Amino acid sequence: MTKPPPIRKAVLPVAGMGTRFLPATKAVPKEMLPVVDKPVVQYAVEEAREAGIEQFIFVTGRGKHIIEDHFDHAYELEALLKEREKTKELDSLLESLPKSGSVSFTRQQKPLGLGHAVWCARHFIGNEPFAVLLPDDLCVGKPGALKQMVQAYNDVGGGAVIAAEERPLSEIHRYGVIAPGKIDGNVIEVKGMVEKPKAEKAPSLLRIVGRYILPAEVFRELDRKEKGAGGEIQLTDSMQRLIGIHQFHAVKANCSWYDCGDKVGFLQANIAVGLSRPDIAPALKKVLSGAKF
Ligand code: G1P
Repeated sequence: MTKPPPIRKAVLPVAGMGTRFLPATKAVPKEMLPVVDKPVVQYAVEEAREAGIEQFIFVTGRGKHIIEDHFDHAYELEALLKEREKTKELDSLLESLPKSGSVSFTRQQKPLGLGHAVWCARHFIGNEPFAVLLPDDLCVGKPGALKQMVQAYNDVGGGAVIAAEERPLSEIHRYGVIAPGKIDGNVIEVKGMVEKPKAEKAPSLLRIVGRYILPAEVFRELDRKEKGAGGEIQLTDSMQRLIGIHQFHAVKANCSWYDCGDKVGFLQANIAVGLSRPDIAPALKKVLSGAKF
């Protein structure tokens, strides 16, 4: 098997309005809401970096400029931390900075759907396979989901690889859902997919999670700008048309997923990340157990 081309670039769509989190998201992008002490979007960037991603393309919208600031130096703050010898805090700030020139921003000028958001990044990607990470889907686990997917991509010899997880039938209408084929461990052949099906039409209980490795040909499909579920240009529809042209797999990543676009999911993510952190886990466990002191 020839080695497939490496996955070096990732698209992070962050243009959504975050109306479910108003008033918190009136002036602050939902991707900047903290899970414990890091903005949601930073988890996705760290997961991508761990998977070997070198170029990060953010698809933003109006009012999202603080995401740009977050991934840049904050000279005054850095100088202050240095002066006060707050080395740990300074190191953590500097560690989270992407390398110069590795971050790009483009705008989705109209909210036409996820497929359209990804299409907006096409000139940054060019003609190579790339990753997409939806920061709302937060993965808690080591290694992160994208690294596990890159491993699967290399093992199967390329093509498209998406993340999937089982959800109850009552929730399945909220997601893209796959029709599974052959199963090999945690790697599942994808035979079809449908965006936000009614429960009775769902091909399985395997929902698409917001992690994708896609061939550049997906842009040709997205170019059609056909509207799908909810009147939006859906990434799922373009991916569906690649099945049969490219091999297509889903990975049930060994990690826990939290939907940070949902209030309860967001709170769960805070608890899960908190419990995974040695610095706060003991105190948090005490609180959760109902102990008063
Ligand atoms: C998007 C995708 C959907 C996927 C979901 C994962 O939906 O269209 O296929 O299951 O992300 O989070 P959205 O959350 O934008 O409605």
